[in-house]
Amino acid sequence: MHRCDLGLIGWGTVGGGVTRILAQDGGLLRERCGLDLRLKTIVTRNPSRAREAPAAGAAVTDRLDAILADDAIRTVIHLVGGTAEATEICRACLNAGKNVVTANKAMLALHGDELFQLAADRGLCIAFEAAVAGGIPVIAALRDGLVANHIQAIYAILNGTCNYILSKMESEGRGYREALADAQRLGYAETDPTLDVDGTDTAHKLAILARIAFNGRIPFAAIRTEGIQSITFDDIRSAHTMGCRIKLLAVAQRRSNGLELRVAPTLVPVDHPLASVSANYNGIFIQGHAVGTTLLVGQGAGAMPTASAVLADVVDICTGRYQATANRFTFFTQASPVSLLPENEELTGSYARFLVPDRAGVLAGIATILSKHGVSLLSIHQAAPDREGQAIIEAVTHPHRGGSFLKAVEEIDHSALTVRPTVTLRRL
Ligand SMILES: NC(=O)c1ccc[n+]([C@@H]2O[C@H](COP(=O)([O-])OP(=O)(O)OC[C@H]3O[C@@H](n4cnc5c(N)ncnc54)[C@H](OP(=O)(O)O)[C@@H]3O)[C@@H](O)[C@H]2O)c1
Repeated sequence: MHRCDLGLIGWGTVGGGVTRILAQDGGLLRERCGLDLRLKTIVTRNPSRAREAPAAGAAVTDRLDAILADDAIRTVIHLVGGTAEATEICRACLNAGKNVVTANKAMLALHGDELFQLAADRGLCIAFEAAVAGGIPVIAALRDGLVANHIQAIYAILNGTCNYILSKMESEGRGYREALADAQRLGYAETDPTLDVDGTDTAHKLAILARIAFNGRIPFAAIRTEGIQSITFDDIRSAHTMGCRIKLLAVAQRRSNGLELRVAPTLVPVDHPLASVSANYNGIFIQGHAVGTTLLVGQGAGAMPTASAVLADVVDICTGRYQATANRFTFFTQASPVSLLPENEELTGSYARFLVPDRAGVLAGIATILSKHGVSLLSIHQAAPDREGQAIIEAVTHPHRGGSFLKAVEEIDHSALTVRPTVTLRRL
């Protein structure tokens, strides 16, 4: 039996899941892996705060040095959120010669270059399965299971809060605010949900996935990111009539002329496997040249699913497996910077909903402007006018260069063809 003394920094939601598994299921890990995992010390901001989670036999303190100065602790579980302080703590752990297991995607998306280099220079590991899609082992799948593949595309639902909100809006006919309040009541959304609903959290995770999939350093700030705050029930209903659902999608697509990365609310046809990933679930659809397509689905957040991924990394490091495999990969140290395709070079299908005056020639006028900009239509139809004499025209396009569609819509909105700014969404 191999004994491993562990330190935990940050005893919140995920930290509580980790101590619960170690307290309740240590026997399972002993039996399966021959590992005696001992949580020796927990460092947390308020050690005296009452918690439901067990301490798993650990000493609890607010002194970071209790872990940093303890030579018996070789591996630290880092579960502090945010970026500045979290990065400082991670740096301190590496400088003290500790391997780090973290769930902090923001830290890795923004400061991964520096931290992974520091780990490599010191012969240490940073393991981060829990940072993307919680309990779904997508990092291991991309890094190990799909290692022989040129990854052509990843389409992913990576934020359970957004997926819950959009699913609720669709299934119960609710508005965005109402569905968000419901998510907050059930603990699926933070009191301040900004980083989830504005797409930033999804972009952090996409940056990490893309780095592994495309073996390059991803300029996080260059990922075009839109959130779900302006999605209305009308959008959901329109998507439904088009045979689609709206999902906040992370898209990574290899093109002949470069890499497209974006996060945006996207119409997903109902027969696509991602359309049925609902509620707070995450789904990752990956296309590789050898494997074809593969889909991973599961709980992308929550104490126990995320702790499940954290402990998988702990086991990998404590058995030496991580050092023998993951640490040999070049994703985080030797990869060169990747330049992303500008929006006007992206190839994407689109949906547009035009509110138009009910008069002859409007539909033809819209179709003409779209065609002038090289946008070809998959379908276009006009609904019956309302009592105010306005009608809705909905158009779905074939894939086109992103810039041309936006220019066409701008021209249409500046003409007398529409009565209010046009609603546009991307289509998978
Ligand atoms: N929650 C999820 O489902 C989930 C899923 C995937 C990834 N993650 C990521 O996992 C990380 C942790 O998330 P969480 O939900 O567990 O956060 P959380 O519930 O807010 O817990 C964070 C913990 O860190 C402690 N802390 C804050 N600053 C500290 C410091 N300077 N030194 C020591 N401890 C400090 C806090 O201490 P006190 O409690 O003592 O005040 C708190 O317990 C985040 O990066 C998050 O993005 C979370």
